[in-house]
Amino acid sequence: METWSPQNLRRRRVSGELGGRGASERDRDDQPTGRSQRQRGGTFFGVFDAEELIGMGVVDSARIGRKDDQIQLAYLYVSRRFRGRGVGVALFEAASNCARELGASALYVSSAPTENTVDFYLHRGCSLAPDPEPGLFAAEPDDIHLLCPL
Ligand SMILES: CC(C)(COP(=O)(O)OP(=O)(O)OC[C@H]1O[C@@H](n2cnc3c(N)ncnc32)[C@H](O)[C@@H]1OP(=O)(O)O)[C@@H](O)C(=O)NCCC(=O)NCCS
Repeated sequence: METWSPQNLRRRRVSGELGGRGASERDRDDQPTGRSQRQRGGTFFGVFDAEELIGMGVVDSARIGRKDDQIQLAYLYVSRRFRGRGVGVALFEAASNCARELGASALYVSSAPTENTVDFYLHRGCSLAPDPEPGLFAAEPDDIHLLCPL
């Protein structure tokens, strides 16, 4: 029987470009100007069952939004057989705390447009982003763009 506990959640800083769901062209832009040049990388969260990675989340370090006060949850994934057991909630809470520590007032989520995933985020306090980030919206126009106040 696989087990996991919140103690199995580890956090690491990563540098370099962040791809992943909703990563905008801005994030891949190598021009010498722009926010992406000033702030690259992010924070990786992994949940492990023994040595196996069973869930992961990535928080971008770049500020987005008109007021530069939002930070994107760049990635969230839980292995199928561990879903519905609190791993996603633990990762989402760790990501929210991380974005809060970085001074953001909201976590930006470009959610896969499936009912389960959108419900997961709505139940965590997210709501529709009134003003989706243009780069992220262009990258994932079918996604549901959400904001979670921190
Ligand atoms: C969306 C996703 C990350 C959720 O991860 P998860 O580990 O299944 O989520 P959790 O188990 O933490 O939470 C799911 C529900 O189970 C409940 N739950 C929490 N602990 C539980 C437990 N021990 N037993 C049963 N249910 C539990 C949660 O309260 C939550 O319900 P709610 O949303 O109605 O409040 C996961 O389904 C996934 O990886 N999906 C595919 C990839 C994806 O869509 N990623 C997001 C891209 S934007």
